[in-house]
Amino acid sequence: MIKVAIMGYGTVGSGVYEVIKTNQKSIDKKVGQELRIKYVLDLREFPGDPVMEVLTHDFEEILNDEEVKIVAEVMGGLHPAYEFTKRCLEAGKSVCTSNKELVAEHGAELIQIAKEHQVNYLFEASVGGGIPIIRPLNSSLTADVILEISGILNGTTNYMLTKMDREGLDYIDVLKEAQHKGYAELHPEADVEGWDACRKIAILTSLASGSQVDYRDIYTEGITKITTRDFAYAKKMNRAIKLLAISRKVGDTYCVMVSPALIHREHPLYMVNDVFNAVFVEGNMLGTSMFYGSGAGKLPTASAVAGDIVDAARHLGKIITLFWEPEKLELAPMEQMTRRFFVRMKEGAEPEAYFGDGERIDARVPGEFGFITPVMSEAEYAAKAAGAEIISMLRVEG
Ligand code: HSE
Repeated sequence: MIKVAIMGYGTVGSGVYEVIKTNQKSIDKKVGQELRIKYVLDLREFPGDPVMEVLTHDFEEILNDEEVKIVAEVMGGLHPAYEFTKRCLEAGKSVCTSNKELVAEHGAELIQIAKEHQVNYLFEASVGGGIPIIRPLNSSLTADVILEISGILNGTTNYMLTKMDREGLDYIDVLKEAQHKGYAELHPEADVEGWDACRKIAILTSLASGSQVDYRDIYTEGITKITTRDFAYAKKMNRAIKLLAISRKVGDTYCVMVSPALIHREHPLYMVNDVFNAVFVEGNMLGTSMFYGSGAGKLPTASAVAGDIVDAARHLGKIITLFWEPEKLELAPMEQMTRRFFVRMKEGAEPEAYFGDGERIDARVPGEFGFITPVMSEAEYAAKAAGAEIISMLRVEG
C-alpha cells in the first residue's frame, strides 16, 4: 500500500481528496497496489467533513512518517510551500503540485533536489489546469525542437473577455461578476495584470528550452485597459480579444511575451472561450498541435495533481527525467517580435504618415477610427508610435 499526504485543503486540495476517494478502485488498478490518503494538512478545522479523520495541523507529522511516499503540495504561494516541498523531497518523498508560482520560481532547483534523492517533483497541474501539456512537452514531443508555444493560459481573464465580447459589458462590471461567481479573486491582480499567464509561459518555455526562464524577464501586459470600444473594432474585424502568452524560438533562445491580442476568426484560439484554456505548440517536425480543455477549477486541476500522484506511485525509486536545468536562459528582447498592430486614433489623424500604408477600420465609434499597421517589429512600432497620438494599441495575431 502507498500512503500519500495532501498539504492544503482549499479548492484544489479538497478536489484532490475527492478525486482519489471517488476513483479509488480505478486508481488502485492503475497504480498496481492500494493508494491511500494518510494525512491532509491544513490549519483549519472542517467539522462534519470526513477529512477530519486524516486531518493534521502539523507538517512535521507528515515529514517524519516514513510510510508517506508521495505528497501533494496544493497550498499555493511561495512560503511555506517552498520550504515544505524541499524538506519532503530531501526526506525521500515525491511531491506533486499545482503551485505555478513555486514551479516558475524554483522549478529547476526542486527538480534537481528530487533527482538527488531518487524521487520526483511533478507539476502537470501548474499550467492549463486539467489540460495535459507538461507531460506531452516532457515526453511525447522530445524529438522535436519547439519553435513556438502560444496560448490562452488564464481561465479568469478568458471568462471576463468572453463576457465583455458577448454581452458588451465594461471591464469593471465583468470583474465584479467574475468575483461574485468565484472565478476572480478579491485581489485579482495576478490574473488581470497577466502575472499568472506570465508564470505559466515561463514554465512552458523552461521545458521547451531545458533552461530556467526568469518570469521577471517576460514583458507582461494585462487586460485592465480593454474597453467596450476595443470590442466594437474587434467585431468589425472578425476578431476576438484574448490574453495571449507567446513564446517563439529565436536562434538559441526564445522571445516571450504576454499581452492582449486580436485573434482572427480562422485562428484556432478564436474559439477558446469562458474559463477554457488552450496551448498551441509548433515543433520543427510535428508541425502544429493544440491542447484544449478546462484551464482552471477544482476538479480539472485536482485531476491533474492526482494523475501526477499515480505517476509518482508507479515510479517509486525511479526518476522521471525532466529536461529543465538550473542555468538561466537569456531571453531574446521582445522588441524583436514582429507583427501588425491595431491602433485607435482621433478623427482627422493621419496614421499613414507614421506607419505607412495600412488598413483603416471604421467601427462607427464617435470621434475616432482604427488602423492596422503593416508588419513591423515591436521596436519599430514603438519608434513610429512615439509621435502619433494613439488612443490605444492592440497587437494583431495571425
Ligand atoms: N487563476 C488561474 C486562472 C487559476 O484563472 O487560470 C488556474 O491556474
